[in-house]
Amino acid sequence: MTAPLLAVEGLSAYYGSAQVLFDVSLALVPGEVLALMGRNGAGKSTTLKAIMGLIAARAHRLEFRGRSILDLPSYRIARLGLGYVPEERRIFTDLTVFENLEVGRQPPRSGRTPWTPERLFSIFPNLAEMSGRRASEMSGGEQQMLTIARTLMGNPDAVLLDEPSEGLAPVIVELMTKAVLAMKSEGIAVLLSEQNLSFAAAVSDRAMIIERGQIRYEGSFAELAESQEAREAYLEV
Ligand SMILES: Nc1ncnc2c1ncn2[C@@H]1O[C@H](COP(=O)(O)OP(=O)(O)O)[C@@H](O)[C@H]1O
Ligand SMILES: [Mg+2]
Repeated sequence: MTAPLLAVEGLSAYYGSAQVLFDVSLALVPGEVLALMGRNGAGKSTTLKAIMGLIAARAHRLEFRGRSILDLPSYRIARLGLGYVPEERRIFTDLTVFENLEVGRQPPRSGRTPWTPERLFSIFPNLAEMSGRRASEMSGGEQQMLTIARTLMGNPDAVLLDEPSEGLAPVIVELMTKAVLAMKSEGIAVLLSEQNLSFAAAVSDRAMIIERGQIRYEGSFAELAESQEAREAYLEV
């Protein structure tokens, strides 16, 4: 068995005194794409934020690359090589595509080929055509691509992607599919929060379903396709 890159055991998270995650466990190995599925409000974003140290959390184990990240601030976690792309796009709208990418540059770790704007343009071809454009003049889908590309400029080993297909036109979802598969083929592990079952199934190795802050299902997409009960109980389908 490959040692997990990200190991989460018994994760609980709180907004004030309200507990919203209950005993969430998951593991991500290098190059694996794991989909965390669930309805609106199920706890997907909270799981990613808790891993990134952005909200109050407790866990029996929360490790990235074999070290505990439980008490680290999120910028330190990012520097260890865990990238995070939140639901709300975080780009500098006054900067061009190329400048946004340069802002994200961090030194590479562990022998990985460093990302450059040129390499990123090969997996985000639509960004190549607009490298001099200001981000404020891009569509939502293009901004979403740019947010992911900028995260990759930090040379992460794993990326937490929060609902990247949300609100995207089908042709852009197709580009997003190619981009996630390209990340996977580079050996980057992805924890993908998603509600779009066909997109998640196209890019992911495994599925987990969360509901009311608890993991309710874990298995392959083939098994999920068989289980109408699981899909009806926990997903909007
Ligand atoms: N900032 C917040 N303060 C209080 N409760 C929150 C906050 N953000 C999310 N929640 C609650 O936590 C639960 C999980 O939300 P979230 O993780 O955003 O779900 P998802 O990403 O699956 O749509 C929901 O009940 C939501 O209302
Ligand atoms: Mg969310």
